[in-house]
Amino acid sequence: MAAQIIDGKAFAATVREKVAGHVARLKEEHNITPGLAVVLVGEDPASQVYVRSKGKQTVEVGMNSYEHKLDAETSEEDLLAVVEKLNNDPEVHGILVQLPLPGHLNEDLIINSIDPAKDVDGFHISNVGLLGTGQKSMVPCTPLGCLMMLRDHHGSLSGMDAVVIGRSNIVGKPMAQLLLGDSCTVTIAHSRTKDLPDVVRRADIVVAAVGRPEMVPGDWIKEGATVIDVGINRIERDGKNKLVGDVDYASCAERAGAITPVPGGVGPMTIACLLANTVTACCRANGLAEPEGLTA
Ligand code: GUN
Repeated sequence: MAAQIIDGKAFAATVREKVAGHVARLKEEHNITPGLAVVLVGEDPASQVYVRSKGKQTVEVGMNSYEHKLDAETSEEDLLAVVEKLNNDPEVHGILVQLPLPGHLNEDLIINSIDPAKDVDGFHISNVGLLGTGQKSMVPCTPLGCLMMLRDHHGSLSGMDAVVIGRSNIVGKPMAQLLLGDSCTVTIAHSRTKDLPDVVRRADIVVAAVGRPEMVPGDWIKEGATVIDVGINRIERDGKNKLVGDVDYASCAERAGAITPVPGGVGPMTIACLLANTVTACCRANGLAEPEGLTA
């Protein structure tokens, strides 16, 4: 059976359309324009690409984009002062500090200095705790995007066996919390998991988020399972640069019922969900009803 391809690019476009509709309404009915501030420290090329793309898409949906580019030697004190200023700026509803930060900066300290209500990454310890206890929170963008695609494909996820491969704070752990929140039976697998193939073979839903190119082969996949590939790995093959995921797409697509491609799967959903989180944060800050279907 050939797997159905879950088109993240098209899905992200519908999320952006919804966001744009809410932004237009906020402007017309309340004279409020949601604003997203992105802070970039240093000149990491991949981070520069992401930040440019975030700024562009923020403007495209009608929101205000504020970019703060700081040099790589910026002190912790100066970065904390920038975050504090954004925390107190009523025009700014979402704050994102692009990671990774240069080595001399304490990421946990910086992330936890962001006002949790403006933490559109959902990385602040308060949001992590709220998500873990099933309370209203800001939800990390990549897992939120995965959840939206899974809900769209399956309707209810209740009772499904889900395996998340990878235990990062950015994807693996929040993904597991979200699946648990939707009543899946969740296993978090990682590099020390015993008999990983056997664990993965039991799953109705496999979310691969390890950052290792094509590490999941098709014969680990249960017939008809849904495969969500979070990996974006740059490799060289036949003398050409290529983007591949954490699963071996060709062999997994032969067994899966549905699968996200790389590129064009999870990737485009991340920024779409960042925009969604910014609108959500803006509505909450102003005591307005939250947009439906854009949060967990
Ligand atoms: N670097 C890579 N992905 C992310 C993300 O989702 N948020 C932030 N802040 N930095 C990142």
